[in-house]
Formats: sequence, C-alpha cells, structure tokens
Amino acid sequence: MVEPAPPDHDADAHDEDEHDDGHGDAGDDGAADGSPGAWHARMPKVLPTLLPGAPSWPAVFGRRAPLEVELGFGRPHFLLERSAEVPAHDLVGIEWKGRWPAAVHARQARGAFPNVRALHGNAWLLFGSLFAPSSLTWIVLNFPDPWWKSKHQKRRIVSDAFARLLASRLAPGGRILVQTDVASLLEEYLARLEAQPGLQNPAGPFRLAPRKPMTASSHREKRCRRDGVPIFRAVLERVDYVDAAAKAGPAA
Ligand SMILES: C[S@@+](CC[C@H](N)C(=O)[O-])C[C@H]1O[C@@H](n2cnc3c(N)ncnc32)[C@H](O)[C@@H]1O
Repeated sequence: MVEPAPPDHDADAHDEDEHDDGHGDAGDDGAADGSPGAWHARMPKVLPTLLPGAPSWPAVFGRRAPLEVELGFGRPHFLLERSAEVPAHDLVGIEWKGRWPAAVHARQARGAFPNVRALHGNAWLLFGSLFAPSSLTWIVLNFPDPWWKSKHQKRRIVSDAFARLLASRLAPGGRILVQTDVASLLEEYLARLEAQPGLQNPAGPFRLAPRKPMTASSHREKRCRRDGVPIFRAVLERVDYVDAAAKAGPAA
C-alpha cells in the first residue's frame, strides 16, 4: 500500500487544471461551443503525426547530453527550474494546453533555458515517436491526471500500453518520477509500472520514494506544499541491464 509522504511534503489546492476536461482549453485549442463536431475542433494541435523516426535530440540541442522528459507540464515551473538544476541535461516537455508551451517559448525568446524544448501536443500520441528506445534518463509525471474519478479511468495517461512504452524509452538505469496528491491514483500507476518486466521500484513494491530525487517543483506541487495536502510520489528504475549483467556472471 502507498504510505503517506513525510510531513514536510505537500498538499494540494486544486487549481483550474483539474476542473479542465483534459482536452485542451477552448481558449487556445479550438471551439468550445458544444455543437456537434466541436469535439474534433477541440482536439489538441499536435506535431505532424507519423514521424519517420525519433528526432536526433543531439542535433536539436547541439550537443550530446542526458535527455529528460516531463509529460503534461502545465505551468512550466518544474521544467524551467529543472533546466537550471541540471544545465548539463537536455529537457523536453510535452503539454497539450497551448498556452504553457507558448509561455516557455516567450521566455526562451529572451535567450533563457537553452536546454529546454517545450512541445505542444498530446503526449500519448507523441511520446513513442519522439524518443528512441532506451534513450531517456528521466521521465517525469507531475500530477498527471486531472481526472481522478474511477469513471475517468479510460482517460488516464498511464494505461498499460503507455506504461510499456514509458519503460521501453528509458535508458538502462533511467528512472521515472511520478507524483500526485491522489493516493489511489499512485497505486494505479504503480500497479501498471511495476508490472513492466524492466522496471523496478527500488523502495519496494507499492512503496513511496523515501526522498524526492530532484529539487525542481511543479506548480501543483508547490500548491500542495503551501496548503498542507499530502503528495504521494514514487520512483521506478529500469533495471533489466543489471539482471542481464548478473546472469552473464563475472567478466573473464
Ligand atoms: C493536473 S495538471 C498538472 C500540471 C503540472 N504537471 C503540475 O504539476 O503543476 C495536468 C496537466 O497535464 C496535461 N495533460 C494531461 N494529459 C495530457 C496529454 N495526454 N498530453 C499532454 N498533456 C497532458 C494537462 O493539460 C495539464 O496541464
């Protein structure tokens, strides 16, 4: 069972993100008149689909560096703080509300955050083709689901298929950080992620991470801390390479 986070951690004031229907806000993603066909108009804008292959991120960033991804970054507090925390890493954020990538782009127009690329689109559609297998050092999911009711389960970003995809994109030793203020959601995520053959929870099955592995904080995370709402967070690590090395035995 998921155990409560230590007392110095967290709380949540639910902001407008969670009242969103999760399909992009009408203000920047399309029609919101509720008329037949409006749903299609409200689909998030995405990069051209069916990319021929993952982009060369070293070519995009102009260097070869550990690559991290934040999915559903919303207000880009974490993405930008993490950029400063690990300037030697490159960071890609994917968010389907257009105003948040635009906010990052506006900051970058002034020359800041060269190690960040903020993409506007649906992480579900984009993630698999944007990143090559075994290429990511960190995948971060900060408060990923505005829809926490069980009837919304089909909308959850961490489906079984997506958990498999996440695991496949981690480099050996790469890790996933997932945090939420809804304990039952973390249990769902862990059930799916820990079921992946190459993923292990170093704290033990269904256990919370003993400490936060990075300093940067998302907007929602800060709200939780401010309001005394518990945060539930876990780290999963890709360990299959360790098993393979152990099976191979000592080097000759
Ligand atoms: C509850 S908010 C949390 C925002 C931010 N991570 C934080 O912790 O403050 C969830 C965010 O995930 C985004 N999101 C949800 N599903 C997504 C998807 N499939 N692709 C891209 N963004 C998604 C939403 O637009 C929203 O900004």
